[in-house]
Amino acid sequence: MITVGLFFGGSSVEHEISVISALQAARYLDRSKYNILPIYITRDGEFYTGEKMLDIANYEKISALLAESTPVAIVRDGKRVVVRRTQHKLFAKDEIGQIDVAFPIVHGTNCEDGSLQGFFEILRLPYVGCDVTSSALGMDKAAMKDVFMQAGIPVVSHQTFRREDWQRGRDAVLDRLEEKIGYPMIVKPVNLGSSIGISKAENRAELEEAAELAVSFAQRVLVERAVQNLREINCAVLGDAEEAKPSLCEEPVSSDRILSFNEKYMSSGKTKGMASLSRIIPAELSDEKRTLIENLAVACFKALGCSGVCRMDFLLDEVSGEVFANEINTIPGSLSFYLWEPAGKPYAELLDDLIRLALKRERQRSQLMITYDSGVLSGAHLKGLSGAKGAKR
Ligand SMILES: Nc1ncnc2c1ncn2[C@@H]1O[C@H](COP(=O)(O)OP(=O)(O)O)[C@@H](O)[C@H]1O
Ligand SMILES: [Mg+2]
Repeated sequence: MITVGLFFGGSSVEHEISVISALQAARYLDRSKYNILPIYITRDGEFYTGEKMLDIANYEKISALLAESTPVAIVRDGKRVVVRRTQHKLFAKDEIGQIDVAFPIVHGTNCEDGSLQGFFEILRLPYVGCDVTSSALGMDKAAMKDVFMQAGIPVVSHQTFRREDWQRGRDAVLDRLEEKIGYPMIVKPVNLGSSIGISKAENRAELEEAAELAVSFAQRVLVERAVQNLREINCAVLGDAEEAKPSLCEEPVSSDRILSFNEKYMSSGKTKGMASLSRIIPAELSDEKRTLIENLAVACFKALGCSGVCRMDFLLDEVSGEVFANEINTIPGSLSFYLWEPAGKPYAELLDDLIRLALKRERQRSQLMITYDSGVLSGAHLKGLSGAKGAKR
């Protein structure tokens, strides 16, 4: 049996979506192979575990749920990574369990952006999905586009500005955007998701308003040329640098041009995760377009150095026929299981693949040298360095 530490929640605007995606995955993980140890991260960054954490109904009253669950710390103890109570309880063992592999199903900043992945690295705990670098790139819409451009992947023309630039002089920023991009533009905070803080601008007044909104959410803002005659096509990729396969393509359908947070997650008034958005699977595409998008999706995944399952989102101009890589989601809503299932890969199998890839990366890494004994700290030359003077470099 492998014990999977299922990490979800977190200090992110997409906290709830993470809970939904994670508990959905928990239902599909094959219990004959895996023990699940749920680790719920509160918005304040506290870790809790307990059986009650696996039932979505209990999240209606978070305070009650937390009161019935156990606050824990995750620490390395010799060769093991263990989950321990943070509050000692009489007649109960401090150690609650051991984690063999971490499965982060978190979305957004402070979680999906490499932060949690960095925590696993420090613990030397194998984990599912993208590593620190690819996670961080995947959360920064501007850095990601730079990498795509380097790899020859088409992206829309864009510019960035910082909050300080905006505070110093809006007109200079607005002038540059008008000159370099031109209307209509789309303004987005670089590192949020779920369309939060994103708006479209057709003129200078709207651009100013859109920029003002975006800088209230992030230090850096990405402004893009708005794609006209827009069609959005998404394609997931599963694997790693050696093996990376595209899924079916989907076309999310929206009444509005910009898919709002509500549309993505709250359609029909119920929170069912990304799968509740109306979508066409497989998307209606010519063979040629489909192949192009599949190849671009794999190229994006590889350019960023991704691993696990990611969803690449594309913007198409129906009239000009252009295809642009828009963004990657390194931990997609519902892990994009719905793009694999109709092609013959059940969700449980997708989860098996993800855990297998995590363990494969761990094996490959264990063959790398991670320490280099220089002998510096045992050398006789250190004599005389102790004391008030400190080390000279
Ligand atoms: N350059 C663009 N042209 C036209 N529409 C865009 C453009 N960029 C984003 N959008 C619209 O805004 C939505 C959200 O933007 P996106 O970059 O995907 O951010 P998020 O991380 O919030 O999903 C997209 O799904 C699309 O509908
Ligand atoms: Mg998007």
